[in-house]
This record gives sequence, structure tokens and C-alpha cells, in this order.
Amino acid sequence: MGIEAMEDRHWLGDTAPEEFRKQLHELADWIADFRENIEKLRVAPDDKPGAIRAQLPAQAPEEGEPFKEILSDVDRLIVPGMVHWSHPMFLGYFGWTATAPGILGEIISAPLNVNAMTWRTCPAATELETVVIDWLRKWVGLPDKFGGVVYDTASVGIMHALAVAREEAAPSTRKLGLINRGLPRFRIYTSHEAHSAAEKAAITLGIGEENVVRVSNDNEFRMDVKLLAQSIAHDRQQGFQPMAVVATVGTTSTASVDPVPEIAKICQEEKMWLHVDAAYGGGFAMLPEYKWISKGWEMADSIVINPHKTVFVPLDFSVLYVRDADRLRRVFTLVPEVLRGDTIEGEKNYMDYGIQLGRRFRALKAWVIWRSLGRAGIVSRLREQVRMTNLLASWINADDRFELAAPVSMGVVCFRFVCANENKLDRLNSEIVEQINASGRAYLTQTKLRGRTVMRIGLGNVLTTEEHLRKAWQLIGERADAV
Ligand SMILES: Cc1ncc(COP(=O)(O)O)c(C=O)c1O
Repeated sequence: MGIEAMEDRHWLGDTAPEEFRKQLHELADWIADFRENIEKLRVAPDDKPGAIRAQLPAQAPEEGEPFKEILSDVDRLIVPGMVHWSHPMFLGYFGWTATAPGILGEIISAPLNVNAMTWRTCPAATELETVVIDWLRKWVGLPDKFGGVVYDTASVGIMHALAVAREEAAPSTRKLGLINRGLPRFRIYTSHEAHSAAEKAAITLGIGEENVVRVSNDNEFRMDVKLLAQSIAHDRQQGFQPMAVVATVGTTSTASVDPVPEIAKICQEEKMWLHVDAAYGGGFAMLPEYKWISKGWEMADSIVINPHKTVFVPLDFSVLYVRDADRLRRVFTLVPEVLRGDTIEGEKNYMDYGIQLGRRFRALKAWVIWRSLGRAGIVSRLREQVRMTNLLASWINADDRFELAAPVSMGVVCFRFVCANENKLDRLNSEIVEQINASGRAYLTQTKLRGRTVMRIGLGNVLTTEEHLRKAWQLIGERADAV
């Protein structure tokens, strides 16, 4: 290959501007149509595993293909093969939050395509990140001694928080690692209802998943603080070093809230790190009537909140707050030579706050959606979720075939079909969920509480109205009668 210019230089560049403009208009229509007609789609596909792959070529194309064809394959192959989390009848997990302004925010960030690793590599991305982190901090009432960073997910946030906890429990681990230093076995405590992200963090940090102690819950699925104190005392006697507690505000199955103030007191007395996993519940602290869930947060060392769960930002957007964020920076700051010229002393370089170097401009979509809805718009929408959740609970309470399986919390209702022989109930509850999901008309989740299978509905999608909820309830009733 010589160094002469190729004949058709045009071919090596990007799509011609006029053509690109046409494609964008086409895509804008596609997005608007998708949103407008989403309700006509099945919520979940009825394909068997492998069915979609079988329709896709095993070999990547040798020559480029036209956008029109690609978009038509999205319609033909991809859209029918999806669980539509944005469908108003999607009531699984924690209801999802795709909104028009959120979609616009995502679209704007695509052409910018910057790397928000240091202030210098994109001042606006860095400064906007600081601004939106601070907006959220004020909305949920966290004191300003908490600084934050945006990651993709809460699991990544908790791993970073516990890395700092580990460094403070075993100084110089950053430099020397854990091996051959005569360190004790560290322990992390969390409740039976907490998310498995604690174990994932323990695996990653060399603490070991068996050193995550699952403390039992009280009858409302909150961590039993007495049992926590006993576990810590017992472990100390056995030679373990209690390192951290992960308390949850909005547990994955029932959205229960651990007693953070009491847990914080234990952590202070025992000199342990307190991480609050408010991945789901955190956003609800914006409601005055839910203010109580943020009690004790000021005593935490770190808190994670997922605005992609409850504060209407499209996936992914998770904020880790650390009391004195410099503690986090000290563990992860590392400036490779190639970046030295691009780091300005005194300016925030978000690459210093985690293992990731390259970082998306996630703050932009949060800024767009939060400006579009305003605090009041967010609060009203969360209130509407809570109203509908309580409405559903009232239907369950009024129907002899069902009972609530946990106290109703935030946007989550766990309930159980009880109109049959006890030894068949687990199977029947599971069957109702499976049949509804297979029908493509709605989507629910099942979970286990105290060893029993229950159905679970999580609200959160702004497209889900009372009418949709009524339809889902009717469907549940019909399926229950059928099984
Ligand atoms: C309470 C809680 N914490 C953490 C997570 C993990 O969240 P992510 O998917 O952002 O890692 C979840 C996920 O649903 C959760 O419910």
C-alpha cells in the first residue's frame, strides 16, 4: 500500500450531510411512531432462546449496508424480540422511566460523543456533571459535605464505596494489595433482602463473598438491628474484622427501608463504614411525605442513588455520594503520563473517582430531563406512582383471593394468590406470573418472601395510567381463576 491518496476519498469519510439529514428525519419519525404505538406491541416476545440469533447473519457484512435496510431490520427483528420496558403494561422489576425529554437528552449526547475523563478533555461535561450531582444532592436533602460521581450502575457504585472502606480498614491496600500482610478477614454486613451487589463488590475487592454476612430482617423486611449488633460482636470474637454495613433504602423485592439511624450509630461505635444503598428508594426522598427515608443519611460514609430508577433519567445513570469525596479520590487517582498535560491541578477530573478512564457524557441527559420536568414535575409524577400503588393495594385487600405479602412501599406491591391448598400456592403464584408474561399483555415479576413465592408489581413508567393498572388487575384475576 503506497502513500498516494485513494481515488474516491469521499468513500472513506462519513455519510454526506444531505443524506444524513434525511436519515435523521426518518429516525425522528421512527422514534415518534415507536412511542405513539408502543401500546400495540406485545410487552414481551414469545420466542424461544436463539430465535432472534437464527435470523441474523453469522458473518458480519463485508460491505457497508444502507441505513434504510438496517432500520427496517430493527423493526422486523429487534423490536419484536424485546421485552418493552417502556410499555405501559410493563410492571416488572422497578418500573422504567423512558420519557420524551429523556430520549431527547440521549440523542443530543450522541453527536457530541465526548470523553468526560478530565476537566480539560471536556470542561462542559465535567462541570455539568458536578452541577447535576449537586442538584440531586439538594433535592434529596444530603448535606454539602457529600461529593459525588456518576457511574453507570449502583453495583459499580457500591464496589467503589467498599474499595474506600477497605482502604480505610487496611491502609495502603491500594499500594500493596491484600496478600501476605497478615490482615484479618474483613466482614461486610447487609440484610437478607439486600441486593447481591454487595457480594459482587466483595468478589471484586478480594474480600470474598462468604465474608458478606446476611443479617435477618424483621417482620417488615427491614434489617434487624439487634441481630446486626450480635453478628458483629460474634465475628469480633472469632477474629474477623467488621468493615462495613450496607443498609438499603428500598430493597429489591419489597422496597422496605432499613433503620439507617440505628445502623449508623452501630457503625460509629464500631468504626465501620456505612454505605446506604438507596438505588431505588433515594429518589423518593424528594417527596416531603417520604422525607423520613433519608433519616440518618448524613451519618453515612457513602450513598448510592439510581436516577435511572426513580428520577426519570434514561438508563444508565447512577450517582455515588461519599462524605468527603476526597476519600474516594485518594484511592483511585492515578495520572498516566499521556494524560498529564490534560489534567489541571485544582480542577475536577472525574477519572480520579473510579476505575473507569473513558466516561460518557451522562450528565447531559439528566440535565435535559430534570430541566424539562422541574422538581415539581418529578415530585408530582412520583406522587402519582405512590397513589396508584396504594390503589392497587386497596384492590388486593378487598379481594379474598389475594393478600398483600409485604407492607406497600413507594411504587412496589408484593401480593399472593391464596385461594388454594397451601402446598400448591407457590406453584400457582408462579404460574399466574408466567402465564401473564407469556400472553404478551402485561409483565410482572415474581419473588420469594420468607421462602414463599409471591407476585410483585413495580410502578414507575410515566405511561402507565390507572386504566392500565385496572387492566393488569383484571388479567391477574382472570389468570388466578383459570389456575
Ligand atoms: C436495592 C438495589 N440495589 C442495587 C441494585 C443494582 O442496581 P444496578 O443495576 O444499577 O447495578 C438494584 C437493582 O435493582 C437494587 O434493587
